[in-house]
Amino acid sequence: MKVATIVLAAGIGKRMKSNLTKVLHPIAGRPMILYTVDLARRITEKGIIVVLGHQTEKIKEVLTGEDLKFAIQKKPLGTGDAVKEALRLIEDYSGTVLVLNGDTPLLREETLNRLLQTHQKEKTKVTLLTAEFDNPTGYGRVLRGRRNKILRIVEEKDLKKNEKDIREINSGTYAFDSKFLFEAIKGINRNNAQREYYLTDTIEIATKKGIKVSSVSAEDHEEVLGINTRINLAKAESIARRRILDAFMLQGVTIISPESTFIDSTVSIGRDTIIYPNTYIEGNTVIGEECRIFPNTRISNSTLGDMVTIKDSCVITDSRIEDRATVGPFTHLRPGCTLSPEAKVGNFVEVKNTKIGKGSKAMHLSYLGDAVIGEGVNIGAGTITCNYDGIRKYQTIIEDDVFVGSDTQFVAPVKVGKGALIGAGSTITEDVPADALALSRVKQVTKEGWARKRKRQESRRS
Ligand code: UD1
Ligand code: CA
Repeated sequence: MKVATIVLAAGIGKRMKSNLTKVLHPIAGRPMILYTVDLARRITEKGIIVVLGHQTEKIKEVLTGEDLKFAIQKKPLGTGDAVKEALRLIEDYSGTVLVLNGDTPLLREETLNRLLQTHQKEKTKVTLLTAEFDNPTGYGRVLRGRRNKILRIVEEKDLKKNEKDIREINSGTYAFDSKFLFEAIKGINRNNAQREYYLTDTIEIATKKGIKVSSVSAEDHEEVLGINTRINLAKAESIARRRILDAFMLQGVTIISPESTFIDSTVSIGRDTIIYPNTYIEGNTVIGEECRIFPNTRISNSTLGDMVTIKDSCVITDSRIEDRATVGPFTHLRPGCTLSPEAKVGNFVEVKNTKIGKGSKAMHLSYLGDAVIGEGVNIGAGTITCNYDGIRKYQTIIEDDVFVGSDTQFVAPVKVGKGALIGAGSTITEDVPADALALSRVKQVTKEGWARKRKRQESRRS
């Protein structure tokens, strides 16, 4: 079947009360409009027309691709007017025209295919996708007459009292015969409560001409949820997220608490990985097999190998953690970190733009920035790289098998050679050669009995 698809996205979305145009509001990390356009891409052979009018350039930034054409609706005069603008771009087209609302992101491909199949099988000029809602408020209602024949669609604001409890709604998704649509669109006017050109008026135009209107009912009413307000947005967010988690679970990922786990659709996770509650995994994150992500963690745009453990309460951004490495609890990996296999970074350690070699450890209270750390290195508790002089950033290089005693500062740029040992409490300002001991602390002074003497003096005074 030849199908051209029109996606309506020119409305402002007043009910969102937002500076951002409605269709750019994200759902599960992706702008709403992408859901509809990607669905259209899976269905359409003949090109997709997106009708824009508000924040056009901003929307075009997310809608890239040669396969998309844009129609511009200068004023949001209604869905009928928007379709009219789109039809201008396909004046010579003959076939099926699919119309999709840009604010109905949960629609499934199977349902759309069912709509198209019915449209083809019943050889009608218009087929609607409808749904039954317990609370249909806000949607256009489907009015049926004798023998259940569709008569027209009435918008919420135009409903008569006795029509308000009709529970069958118009989803805003339609298959039209192009010839019928070209004709019908000329016949609509603005005689309604909102003074808009309603696309829905084409239904009454059809029935008045004796043209049969078919319908397909969405099995699951959630999928035709229209996003008009932020309340609808939150509902869609939770449904979209649940769908993503279900897909991960079917692929073999254990998610202990789906209610408190938030994973973007752009993420990939290997089998037998276990995700504990209150976890956020975002952007282009790739997680391998048999990893464990313990509670209260956020991972963004990062790559984790296999059998990686992230203990509780970590923030990990733009970093790479290789096989069997361990992070946390309470670790912050800022952009540009690489942890080699079996490396361990632990309690209250902040790392930025740093490579940590195989099996090396930084377990307690450290800041490691702009450093290259070799294999088998031990970074003692409280080690700090002083990488910034207020103007520039400098590098610290620590070669393989170095032992860094606790409470050490590396004043960068500085380099410590292979196998060297840094005594605890040192401030290292000069390069240390391989296998050397470097120590920079004030010699200890001990005065026997001094403390006892002072205490006695104090008690005499009082
Ligand atoms: C529309 C339908 C309603 C249906 C509901 C389903 C009409 C008149 N009403 O109502 O029957 O139940 O969708 O969700 O069609 N748009 C434009 N240009 C405009 C106006 C809107 O491109 O001038 C776009 C919007 O960006 C949006 C879509 O069309 O993506 C629907 O517009 P909206 O104002 O949300 O229509 P509803 O009132 O929800
Ligand atoms: Ca809507």
